[in-house]
Amino acid sequence: MIREDEKIVIGADHGGYQLKNSLVDYLLRLGYEVVDVGAYNDEPSDYPDFARMVAEKIQSGEARRGILICGSGVGASIAANKFRGIRAAVCHDTYSAHQGVEDDDMNVLCLGARIIGEALAKDIVKAYISAEFKNKDRYNRRLKKIEEIENGSGQTHP
Ligand code: RB5
Repeated sequence: MIREDEKIVIGADHGGYQLKNSLVDYLLRLGYEVVDVGAYNDEPSDYPDFARMVAEKIQSGEARRGILICGSGVGASIAANKFRGIRAAVCHDTYSAHQGVEDDDMNVLCLGARIIGEALAKDIVKAYISAEFKNKDRYNRRLKKIEEIENGSGQTHP
């Protein structure tokens, strides 16, 4: 569960701009502090730029969780997962949104504004921010293996 005194960082390209604005309002109404890294208009923009800004806020510790939105959620998740320590996934259902945190310690939720409507997006965000990593041995073991892959030691063909 993200506490109300924690920041949530959110970013979107032009494809996700409108949904981002709705989700920022939603999070503020729930009492959260939101860091909105843009886009601030619907002019064409590049999702990797917003993935970088969201990822860097998490890497620096300014925020523990982030939300990224593009047209499909796919580009945003591909870009975000290139950053060390970022575990991003597209979730268009509430089960994945909480289970991804509970089992996989997902720290960036990616949404496709052209795929889901605002009401479902809000439910998904609620499920995501309400969830907490379960910290079980088997989950930690798997995360450690992901970390090893990230560090290059998981490569079978160097
Ligand atoms: C932008 O047109 C679109 O390609 C982008 O928002 C996203 O869907 C990429 O995955």
